Amino acid sequence: MLGMLETDKVFAGSIPENYDRHMVPLIFEAYAAETARRAASLSPVAILETAAGTGAVTRALAPRLSPGASYTVTDLNQPMLDYAASRQGPDSRIAWRQADASKLPFEDAAFDLVCCQFGAMFFPDRVAAYREGRRVLRPGGHFLFSVWDRIEENIFADDVTNALARIFPDDPPRFLARTPHGYHDKALIRSDLEAAGFSDVTIDTIAEQSRASSPRVPAVAYCQGTLLRNEIEAREPGRLASATDYAESVIADRHGHGEVAAKIQAHIIVASA
Ligand SMILES: C[S@@+](CC[C@H](N)C(=O)[O-])C[C@H]1O[C@@H](n2cnc3c(N)ncnc32)[C@H](O)[C@@H]1O
Repeated sequence: MLGMLETDKVFAGSIPENYDRHMVPLIFEAYAAETARRAASLSPVAILETAAGTGAVTRALAPRLSPGASYTVTDLNQPMLDYAASRQGPDSRIAWRQADASKLPFEDAAFDLVCCQFGAMFFPDRVAAYREGRRVLRPGGHFLFSVWDRIEENIFADDVTNALARIFPDDPPRFLARTPHGYHDKALIRSDLEAAGFSDVTIDTIAEQSRASSPRVPAVAYCQGTLLRNEIEAREPGRLASATDYAESVIADRHGHGEVAAKIQAHIIVASA
């Protein structure tokens, strides 16, 4: 498996808005609802969310928490968090704070749930980040998080990656395969959690459908709402629009020109501190 690059974690510039507008409805909202349902069923009172991004889970989970709950919502990149806060109604239970999941600015045993949707793939040292999550959990508290399954199970991402490999055959932009879809081995996930001191690890593999009104939507979402955008622009400035058009044509050839739908798949994991 290829490691991630230093730039793979920099969600800034035009990415927050494009991410929230295009990517979130396409692939994150369905899992946010599922994660919020699972989180709420644990009846947590003190919740920490890491790598919260533009707040897909926050918006789904906040209405399910008790009035006395406290919900600390964090992300490495302040621009993502600013976007999340701008989309959330006033809620005195929520505190927004910039934080690296690998170095949490919180006391030991401060939370009874740590949740993190599709963030672990970006952590350079996952065992260290899991250890931090466990440190801030009270004994018996839960770590609930998700990662994407392999790219071949996530059809539009795979289609876009294959399309871009045809445009840039000498140096294909592999961000999607390398990072968001680069940490799917269940045995590795389990052993990383156990190395960090977690027990009772449960991993559920959950398929959903990614749906869009046209093939344009997933093409724009992946090419312009993820760090693939930077990879395309780095290879050929000014090529972003035509690369997006080509990805759209590849998706249209395979899935049709009108409404499109394709499989997405992820692992949702829960472990006990
Ligand atoms: C794919 S997004 C997921 C965002 C959100 N949880 C969702 O489901 O839409 C990954 C997020 O991880 C954040 N991130 C990357 N490295 C991080 C780290 N070390 N600590 C905390 N957040 C990190 C990025 O800023 C980005 O917002």
